[in-house]
Amino acid sequence: MTRKRATIPPSPNNLHTIEQAVRAFSLLRDFFEGAIIVDAQTRITWIDARYRLLLKLAPDFDPIGLPVEEVIPHSLLRRVVETGRPILLDIMNFDDRQFVVCRIPLKDAKGNVEGAIGFVFYDNVDYLEPILQKFENLQKQLTRAQAALIHERQTKYSLSSFVGTSEAVKDLKSQVRRFALRDGAALILGETGTGKELLAHAIHQQSDRADGPFVAVNMAAVPEALLESEFFGVAPGAFTGADRKARKGKFELAHGGTLFLDEIGDMPLGIQAKFLRVLQEGEIEALGSNTVKKIDVRIIAATSQDLEARIADKTFRPDLYYRIAVLTVRIPPLRERLNDIPLLCETLLEQTMRASDQRGWVISPEAIKLLQDHDWPGNVRELRNVLERAAAMAPTEILDAAVIQRALPPSTARQRMPVQLTADLATTLADAERQAILEALATSGGQKSVAATRLGVSRSQFYEKLKRHNIAV
Ligand SMILES: Nc1ncnc2c1ncn2[C@@H]1O[C@H](COP(=O)(O)OP(=O)(O)O)[C@@H](O)[C@H]1O
Ligand SMILES: [Mg+2]
Repeated sequence: MTRKRATIPPSPNNLHTIEQAVRAFSLLRDFFEGAIIVDAQTRITWIDARYRLLLKLAPDFDPIGLPVEEVIPHSLLRRVVETGRPILLDIMNFDDRQFVVCRIPLKDAKGNVEGAIGFVFYDNVDYLEPILQKFENLQKQLTRAQAALIHERQTKYSLSSFVGTSEAVKDLKSQVRRFALRDGAALILGETGTGKELLAHAIHQQSDRADGPFVAVNMAAVPEALLESEFFGVAPGAFTGADRKARKGKFELAHGGTLFLDEIGDMPLGIQAKFLRVLQEGEIEALGSNTVKKIDVRIIAATSQDLEARIADKTFRPDLYYRIAVLTVRIPPLRERLNDIPLLCETLLEQTMRASDQRGWVISPEAIKLLQDHDWPGNVRELRNVLERAAAMAPTEILDAAVIQRALPPSTARQRMPVQLTADLATTLADAERQAILEALATSGGQKSVAATRLGVSRSQFYEKLKRHNIAV
C-alpha cells in the first residue's frame, strides 16, 4: 500500500506541547498501558512502546505521520480534535480484553486545538472494575437481545409462527397455503386479537412478494383528513407554507410488495372511491401533482367488522368489497378453539422471557384449565396480556392457578369505582371519563371503533381521548 505520508512540522510550539505532554506522562506511566498523541490534522506524532505492543504493530512499522484511523480504525481522537472536547471515559476492545481509554485535546496558550492525546488503562485500576463489570454485563445483555431479535424476525412472520393445533387453525393454514402463491387481494376476517396482522405477514412471507416491502396502514388510527396523503403521497409544495418536501404515500412505499390495510371496515366512504379507482387503474396520483405513477401492490385487508352489514347500511362500497375479498379467510375467535390454549401459552411464554434469567416459564395444568374457562373477548392478544401480567406477578417461574386467577380480568360482574368525592369537579369528571373508556374497551374486547360507538363519540374524538388519558391499546 502506498500512502502519502505527511512530515510532521516540528514547529517550536508543537514541540513544546509534545514535550510537556511527554513529561506529564512519565509521572502517569505506572497507571496507563499505552498512550498516543496526534496533531491538529489527527496524524500520529507520537506513540508509546506499550501501545505499539497492544496494537500489535510490527517492529519495523513506523506509524508517525499517518492519519490515526490507519492505525486505530475506529479511533475517536479525530472527534476530540475537531470538537476540542475531551472524551474522559470510554471503553475499547483489544482482542478480548477491555480497556478504559481517556482522550484529551491539547491546546496552545490561546486555546487553539493543536492535537489530542489518548491514554489506555487496563483493569489493574481497581476503581474502574465496577464500570468494566457493568459494561461487560450490558454487552452480554445486548448480545442476547440481538440474538432474540434476529430469531424473532426470522420466525415471526412465517406461517409456522401462527400456532394452533385445533382443526380450525389447521384448516385455516391449509387454506392459506393453498392460495399463498396466488397474487389476488386477500381479506382476513376475525375479531380483534385473533392474529389477523400476524397472518397477513405470513401470507406476504409465503408469496412471491416476500422480498418486497410489507407496508401496513391502520385505518382506525389515521385521522380521516390525513388518509389521502397517507395513501397517495404529497407532491413537493402541494400546500403553501406546509411541508414543502414531497412525501411518498404508502402505495408507493409498498410498490413490489404488499399493502396491508388494517381495520378496513373503518375506511371512510370518501377514500373508498379513490382507493377503488387506484386498484382498478393500477396507478396513483400524489396530492398536488399532475403526474401518475404505475404501482404494483398486493392488497391484504383485515377487519373485525361485519363488512356485509356495513354494505347494507351503505357505509361500505360493495364494489370495493368485491375487489378486496378475492380470497377470504376467517380466523375463528379463541373461545371457539380453546384447545389451542396450551400451545399458545407455551409459545407466548417463550416470547415473555425473564430479563434476569432465561429458564423460561412453566404453567401448571390447573392454570391452563382456568384459562380455558375464560371466554377471551380480546382473543390471543388478551391471552398474551394475561400471561405477561401473570409472569410479572409470579414469585417463581411457575405460573399456577392462583397467579393466573389474579392476572385474569375480574369476571363479568362489573365493578364500578365509587366516585372520589375528595377531588374537584374537573378531576372527578376526568376520572369518570377515563373509567368509562377503560370499561368500554374491556367490554368490546379492545375494539376501538366498537368502544367509540358504545360511548357515542366519533372515532377521532375517541382517539383524542385515549391520548389525553394516556391509555395505550
Ligand atoms: N395463532 C397465533 N400464534 C401465535 N401468536 C398469535 C396467534 N394469534 C395471535 N397471536 C399474537 O397475538 C397478538 C395479536 O395478534 P394480531 O395479529 O395483532 O391480532 P389482530 O390483528 O387480529 O388484532 C400478537 O402479539 C400476535 O403475535
Ligand atoms: Mg390488528
